[in-house]
Amino acid sequence: MTELRMPKDFLWGSASAAYQIEGAHLEDGKGISNWDEFVQIPGKTFKETTGEVAVDHYHRYKEDIALMAEMGLKTYRFSIAWTRIFPNGRGEVNESGLEFYQNIIDECLKYGIEPMVTLYHWDLPQALVDEYGGWESEQVIDDYVNYAVVLFEAFKEKVKYWITMNEQNIFTTLGWMTAQHPPGKFDDEKMYYLVNHHAFLAHAKTVLKFKEMIPDGKIGASFAYSPSYAINADPIHAMSKVDFDNLKNFWWMDVYAYGRYPKNTYRYLQKKGVAPTVTSEDAVLLEAAAKQIDFMGVNYYQTSVTEYNPLDGVGPYGEMNTSGKKGTGEITGIPGLFKNPSNPHLETTDWDWTIDPMGLRYACKEITSRYNLPIIISENGLGAFDDKTEDNQIHDDYRIAYLNAHVYELMKAVDEGCDVWAYCTWSFTDLLSWLNGYQKRYGFVYVDRDEEGGSLDRYKKDSFYWYKDVIQSDGAMI
Ligand code: BG6
Repeated sequence: MTELRMPKDFLWGSASAAYQIEGAHLEDGKGISNWDEFVQIPGKTFKETTGEVAVDHYHRYKEDIALMAEMGLKTYRFSIAWTRIFPNGRGEVNESGLEFYQNIIDECLKYGIEPMVTLYHWDLPQALVDEYGGWESEQVIDDYVNYAVVLFEAFKEKVKYWITMNEQNIFTTLGWMTAQHPPGKFDDEKMYYLVNHHAFLAHAKTVLKFKEMIPDGKIGASFAYSPSYAINADPIHAMSKVDFDNLKNFWWMDVYAYGRYPKNTYRYLQKKGVAPTVTSEDAVLLEAAAKQIDFMGVNYYQTSVTEYNPLDGVGPYGEMNTSGKKGTGEITGIPGLFKNPSNPHLETTDWDWTIDPMGLRYACKEITSRYNLPIIISENGLGAFDDKTEDNQIHDDYRIAYLNAHVYELMKAVDEGCDVWAYCTWSFTDLLSWLNGYQKRYGFVYVDRDEEGGSLDRYKKDSFYWYKDVIQSDGAMI
């Protein structure tokens, strides 16, 4: 039990993404997305899993939302599949697509659950990729805005909270640097920064449109924020933390909040010849949008450690290496800037993600002091192997412990002055983890589903009842 309380109007929530839950990948006029296409390439996902059926939320949304209501959820964050609205990315609106989301929204509102809509959670119409390379072309900007405007018009009376981009840093890094997401490119650094620039411009134009159309609504982007800690007090490592943060965190958050790239990193990328060109028109647009965003969305899972990464394994001053030890010369991170060793102070999940509840408070305080913006925690959760007993129980005490610690730190962050509006766990039901199939579970509700199939029946885990109590007590039972 804690003395702390979240305010009565705090949005206790949970989140999902269209591709990971809906299935029905070709139903009612839906078009093919880049993910529908990408997963056909052998070896890209765990046991070649696709989202063709996922957890069949498309047909079971009423059952899922009724479970949310039973739990007492205050907000439900979900994404819209662009390909349901525009099967080919643009052109004629597919009315059945709009109707599906209209139904979801109405179902939420029926129970007093505030819908929170993500416009883009990584599933891009394949038609736009075929036509002009998707995010690689600036043509995508107007198509994205056009798609967003259709949704604003359709749902402006009913949806107050909107998220433009989910984890732009992740889908671009995995798409153009590590080849794990579509379009599967490796180390294409110049294109990576260009693609990001296009995404920033699409976000910015959309924010401005939004403010014209829904002046009372709230809009922002959701960033996958992994704060970093310098490995020790040696200035060379402190410097590597600054470089890491600018390149891996502030490169995105500064644009959302200030409308400009961090100067030192821009200079560094210019010297490398990979910095995106920012026209004066772009600069005006980005700055105007930054003034209009209402919150910083944060998907928080883990933190990292930074350590100076010597180019030659010796250190910046040759034999005068200030760290007192020879560098290893390992090529992790970016040689000459930083590398990211593991953190001996933290436990890790079964997928080697650090477990750092205090890092959530750290993230909130950093955002509060750097940007002075309200915060929506749009994702936080534990991916784990869950077992269902013969009598259909799921005793996920490890998930309860994980979430309990994170909620406690969030409450402390609020107590210490952070303006946090919402906390969305990832996820409500189990769902398809993009690269890890169904074995990596996140939900409060177990779905009988594996890579081979399953009944798709839903079962409440122990964490379901835990979160219900948290919500009911405004967090007091933490
Ligand atoms: C976030 C994404 O990166 O993390 C989700 O927004 C994703 O879509 C979640 O599922 C967990 O990642 P993973 O790889 O464990 O599924």
